Amino acid sequence: MDKERKLLIAGNWKMNKTVAEALDFVQDLRREATGIKEVDIVVCPPFTALDEVSKAILDTNIRLGAQNMSEHQGGAYTGEISAGMLKEFSVRFVILGHSERRQYQKETDALIAKKALAAHAASLKPIICIGESLAEREAGITEKVLDRQLNGSLAGLTKEQMQESVVAYEPVWAIGTGKTATSQQAEEAQAFVRRTVAAIFDDTVARRLRILYGGSVKPSNARELMSQSDVDGALVGGASLEIRSFIDIIKNSI
Ligand code: PGA
Repeated sequence: MDKERKLLIAGNWKMNKTVAEALDFVQDLRREATGIKEVDIVVCPPFTALDEVSKAILDTNIRLGAQNMSEHQGGAYTGEISAGMLKEFSVRFVILGHSERRQYQKETDALIAKKALAAHAASLKPIICIGESLAEREAGITEKVLDRQLNGSLAGLTKEQMQESVVAYEPVWAIGTGKTATSQQAEEAQAFVRRTVAAIFDDTVARRLRILYGGSVKPSNARELMSQSDVDGALVGGASLEIRSFIDIIKNSI
């Protein structure tokens, strides 16, 4: 597939896998992913497996991501993990503002913007998640919601920082439900995201920005989704837990 932007496929393991399970997975992934150059492959294990996974993927084409981080650099924030701590394990990417965190931890756009700035300050690339709920889509306000989330979550980023960021469009109704957005719905929303980023920053930033789709991505729908012009990769939850389905998503996307 010929795109100006390199595809990025990230596995978000959420609160799954022990260290031993994580290692089993990445050992298989190392073997299966050897020689794949067309896609940036990222795995986002829970914090507890970052150290071992980091060692297991040294000198491979697999990159490490975390699923969250604090907006603070350090101090009295019990239970939090800073960007600097993630860097100790050679983490390159960090998922921010996933809809599960927006829902269960009440993360706001303003908080996500602070986290994105803190990630960039430590040279981590944020994967900033946005997406509408079913009620919002049915009310016809998808674009309004995406516009609000983008303006809020990207607030304060410089053009250079924006270009080094990744946006993941994840309609909440498609996450973990088996209900995928049609490729047309994904393309429409993602083209809107790109136009909005162009309006906030500029055309060059928007053209270079990678926008991922997330929400029930599987081997059977990956090809169709990735063939859309504004879909530059995928954030994969459930199907990233099994080596076979994760690698098939990657291979079907090329
Ligand atoms: P899913 O999750 O692939 O299981 O729908 C996607 C995500 O939450 O990032």
